[in-house]
Amino acid sequence: YAPVDSGPESSKAMKLPTQLKFSVRPLSKYRRLFPRFSEPKEIISFSYDSVRKQHMDDRELKYFCAPALNPAPSLFDGFEKQIRRDPSINEHIDGLLTALLHLPKQTTADADFVMYRGMLTRLFVTPYSLRDAWSMNATRIGRTIYIEDNVTSEAIENRRGSSQLHEKLMYSGYKFEGLCVLDKPASRCTAEDLAKRRDATVNTHSEYCSVFRTKLGKFSIISGAEIDCIDGEKPSEFPSRMYRELKTANLLDTPRKQESFDRFKLIKFWAQSFIAGIPVVTVGYRDADGVLRHVEDIQTQDMPRRVRGRRSMWEANVCMNFAEQILGFIKDAVKEQGPQTQYCIEYDPQTQDIGIELSKIQTPFLTPEYASSSHC
Ligand code: A3P
Ligand code: MG
Ligand code: MG
Repeated sequence: YAPVDSGPESSKAMKLPTQLKFSVRPLSKYRRLFPRFSEPKEIISFSYDSVRKQHMDDRELKYFCAPALNPAPSLFDGFEKQIRRDPSINEHIDGLLTALLHLPKQTTADADFVMYRGMLTRLFVTPYSLRDAWSMNATRIGRTIYIEDNVTSEAIENRRGSSQLHEKLMYSGYKFEGLCVLDKPASRCTAEDLAKRRDATVNTHSEYCSVFRTKLGKFSIISGAEIDCIDGEKPSEFPSRMYRELKTANLLDTPRKQESFDRFKLIKFWAQSFIAGIPVVTVGYRDADGVLRHVEDIQTQDMPRRVRGRRSMWEANVCMNFAEQILGFIKDAVKEQGPQTQYCIEYDPQTQDIGIELSKIQTPFLTPEYASSSHC
């Protein structure tokens, strides 16, 4: 990567060249052996309840039980009565920081990166999502770089302007989750508990989140991931091996749809679950009317194999090598320390470059509680 625009008049706040750039292409740069990736290990977990209050326990962890398909349920049912989180409220990484405050300072101090899984997934799929712009903020404390989504006003506008069909499709993802889970393990549920799921109100405030530690190449990472459900009682060792991701997709009734699913959807399912060590994804396929027609379990480790050697598909090693390199680029560029110093990391589809620059700080995204704690 090369510095650009480093004029002699750079201000004190801009000690760095104004912007550093990393070219995503050519992908041949990443077509090598897999980098090391250590199995994600949960270090703490927490829940958000139905009014989005955070609790440092597993009260919102749900238990998997396959949905009934006869009669086939509609994933658009109950759309009007859903209770939805306000998309204009930006939570930043507050929940994750609160969780870290419950762990010894050293746990975080030893990590190179702290970010939600969504940001890692975004990095993993960038080589194959060259048309999708993204933007993140980063702040460094000691050796640890904290990263959050930079929720741009454009993104909020896009959400606000989305069509009714788009809203319904989004709803269908949550509805499917509701049809697949129970509040207690299936072995302790009655037929009535199972039947009740059909009419349950979707409330997107509730969430169970696992915070885990992993390593990609030489970088130690702490991340948090929303976990849809677990297969039975949560074990004390490696619970992620029992977690299960739930996803919806269009019914694959033509070869073209199958091709598009393998190329664009499967890579996202793979990256999201692989990063958190989740072994299986249950996919619910809906028809054009939103009716759930078919349910399939796909093993995370089988996904790369399914597309291997096929034209215009994706390769897991490319995703991982790219992610490792971009983390190295971020680590080198985000040098200045303190909650008041913030960098912006941006992918531009026009140039297919990732740029990093110091941003004019508005409000630090590390919370006052976190910034004033012994962790900082
Ligand atoms: P689907 O992924 O089945 O469409 P997750 O799958 O990550 O557990 O998220 C649950 C649902 O939230 C998704 O279901 C989707 O409906 C919605 N969702 C998650 N992330 C989204 C995003 N970035 N944009 C729009 N909807 C999203
Ligand atoms: Mg989910
Ligand atoms: Mg899901």
